[in-house]
Amino acid sequence: MKENLKYDFKTSGDFEIKVTTFFGLEEILAKELFQLGGKNIKQFTRGASVTGDLGFLYKLNLCLHTGLKVLVPIADFSIQNQQDLYDAVKQIEWEKFIGAENTLMIESVLNTEIFNHSLFVAQKAKDAIADRFVEKTGKRPSVDLIKPDFKLYIHVFNNEVNISLDSSGEPLYKRGYRSDINKAPIKEVLAAGLVKLSGWESHLLLIDGMCGSGTIAIEAALWANNVPPGCFRNEFTFMYWKNFNEDLYKTIFDGALNKIKEHNVSIIANDNDEATLKKAAVNVKNANVDDVIKCTNQSFFDIMPSKNSGTVILNPPYGERLAINEITAMYKEIGNKLKKDFNNFNAWIITSSPDGFKSIGLRPSRKIKIYNGALECRFLKYELYQGSKKASKQNKEV
Ligand SMILES: C[S@@+](CC[C@H](N)C(=O)[O-])C[C@H]1O[C@@H](n2cnc3c(N)ncnc32)[C@H](O)[C@@H]1O
Repeated sequence: MKENLKYDFKTSGDFEIKVTTFFGLEEILAKELFQLGGKNIKQFTRGASVTGDLGFLYKLNLCLHTGLKVLVPIADFSIQNQQDLYDAVKQIEWEKFIGAENTLMIESVLNTEIFNHSLFVAQKAKDAIADRFVEKTGKRPSVDLIKPDFKLYIHVFNNEVNISLDSSGEPLYKRGYRSDINKAPIKEVLAAGLVKLSGWESHLLLIDGMCGSGTIAIEAALWANNVPPGCFRNEFTFMYWKNFNEDLYKTIFDGALNKIKEHNVSIIANDNDEATLKKAAVNVKNANVDDVIKCTNQSFFDIMPSKNSGTVILNPPYGERLAINEITAMYKEIGNKLKKDFNNFNAWIITSSPDGFKSIGLRPSRKIKIYNGALECRFLKYELYQGSKKASKQNKEV
């Protein structure tokens, strides 16, 4: 077992980085990694791996729109029993990464017969780290399950163990601009992914017709102006690592801010609920995109688009709180409205409600499977061109 332990954490040169995302956004994430200068990019379910240096790790945390967590794999080894895990974890020179004064959290995922509970793996690994610290320094780091300085992931698959450090801390969807949210807000990373999947081009009008907290509209504005989504946060866990290079971080941060573009973008965030819209307007201001997003308070069914082409994205209620006939009536009305007043637009609707989307009465030209939290959803594209309202033949599901 011991000879299989291979860990390294460099302060210079390239190393492997893994970035997680939501199911359905892997390809967009991989493109982002490429555009940010990543090498050896490989997609996997709910993520992608890439190689880069410490500055690149900082850049990913600051600049990725569709990344959830940026992880650095530091060890992989095989075990035969529970004691092997303790021994291997204890061999790692944790004192090189963090101090005994830092707080710690360990999460684990299992698919093995060696352990039958993930909490037990986390406990065993924590004991190994604490025992090492006591031996080396006389002090032990404490556990903080809410806001730890240092977060580890342990994945045990049969006899193989992988350990990664989480450089982000709070997941990257927690951008920090949403001071107020409404019911059923969509996560920022998912909203960013929907905007990219929609293929919206920033010189065209975008309408977030049922905007709730305004997340889709805000994420579109961040993409359009090249605003690094991480710039609203003060903290990432890599800042607690012993190898944190503050000057390098500042250079990366300033470089990302310097790339912000300001151009003519036209985005509408609309909701029929006045209190909801007020909250969206606060979030838009917090994100500093109030110059490109216009907040309007009316029913989507009363909107008359100011341009004769563009993109509509709708995240309507899915129906958890509504009766089935109310849902089918609402989605039918959405379909009718799109047909009547959005000729030449592309419309995209995310919903988990099959009854809802069947009632729209238009044939989608794309259906993308995606998850909104635990809810399996479809992100449906409708191309609203006169004379082409009947079926598009490529009903593509990914
Ligand atoms: C699922 S939530 C949208 C969540 C949003 N994407 C966010 O990030 O917070 C659905 C929203 O649709 C709004 N809504 C329902 N019917 C509407 C209508 N006819 N016109 C405009 N908005 C409507 C609700 O007020 C609610 O805010």
